[in-house]
Amino acid sequence: MRKYRAAIIGLGKQSTEDHLPGIINSQFAELVAVCDINTNLVSRVASQYKVKGYDSCQELLKKERIDFAIVAVPHDAYADIIPTLVKHKVHILKEKPFARNLREAIKFAKLIKNADLECMVTLQRRFNPIFNSFLQLKDQIGDLYFVDCRVTMFLEEPQSGWRGLSKTAGGGVILDLGYHMIDLIIWYFGLPDYIHAQFNVNNKNKKCHNVEDMAALLFCYKSGFHGSLFISSHCPPKEQNIKLLGSRGLIQLERGSISRMSCCGEVMEKLTRENAWPAASTEQIDYFCRILNRERENYGGPEYHMKHMAFIEAAYRSQKQGSYISPKDLLNRYEY
Ligand SMILES: NC(=O)c1ccc[n+]([C@@H]2O[C@H](COP(=O)([O-])OP(=O)(O)OC[C@H]3O[C@@H](n4cnc5c(N)ncnc54)[C@H](O)[C@@H]3O)[C@@H](O)[C@H]2O)c1
Repeated sequence: MRKYRAAIIGLGKQSTEDHLPGIINSQFAELVAVCDINTNLVSRVASQYKVKGYDSCQELLKKERIDFAIVAVPHDAYADIIPTLVKHKVHILKEKPFARNLREAIKFAKLIKNADLECMVTLQRRFNPIFNSFLQLKDQIGDLYFVDCRVTMFLEEPQSGWRGLSKTAGGGVILDLGYHMIDLIIWYFGLPDYIHAQFNVNNKNKKCHNVEDMAALLFCYKSGFHGSLFISSHCPPKEQNIKLLGSRGLIQLERGSISRMSCCGEVMEKLTRENAWPAASTEQIDYFCRILNRERENYGGPEYHMKHMAFIEAAYRSQKQGSYISPKDLLNRYEY
């Protein structure tokens, strides 16, 4: 396969920790340029990686010929960057969330579809064997009863900076920290039939943010299977757990390990894998190149992520209306 020419737009934490090291180890992508509105950051990263640096995405696209862009910017900044990339016929590997809300998601999806471009949302868990083993183990525990999902971490200032304001972030922990877990719920069980959410802005320093920093969601399926999701950015320790109960046992997934247990909690089998994350960043980029080369299916495209956006929209509407909301009804209401 030829090497695809790529640029990275947004050189903050996510690009520094994942995408820049990820692309350097890629088999199929070559970094040709970087871009950030912070000019000091651009100079530093451009000289470190010996590539061209730009402080505007438009400028980069005028001067460079690229096949795809990896975009990792504050959530409001995608609103200009995505249409600009589409206009220049550049494929997009986009950081989560797909959009700030369902309306914006539909706009992005239409633009991308009409231009016949590939866009994939980056979700590293899809490239980690621990998370991939879940479906295989799930089939061994009989009828499914209940799933308990938790994503927590402790930040001194939860949701600070652009993440703290609904205008820039689009939402709090449900949209941001919760997006990966919502992807796992949809991947493992499908889009729920009903969602109920309760959330609030708990952190004492409320002035610095107006988005939720703690949320409790219930989600149900018509089959009777149901689950809960707790998300918090100021609840230690840092963890990400799924516990699935079935008639023949349970599955416990934690960061770095997954176990299948008997009904009384005896471990029947366990898989652990440390240090899988750096490899996942590279694998994700190479997978996207294989999509561009028509060797792989794009399972993380706009149409699929419409489900995530409907899940999130249902959660926000549920709090407002104080009732269960059907994400499927929300999806059916929109044409895209
Ligand atoms: N997949 C994950 O696990 C994961 C983890 C963290 C963040 N993220 C996502 O990555 C994205 C970025 O998050 P982050 O933590 O790196 O944020 P950040 O604030 O650390 O970095 C964002 C960078 O984008 C730059 N920027 C802002 N507007 C720009 C524009 N118009 N053009 C170019 N650059 C611009 C900023 O100057 C900054 O350097 C978000 O979508 C976030 O949700 C994903």
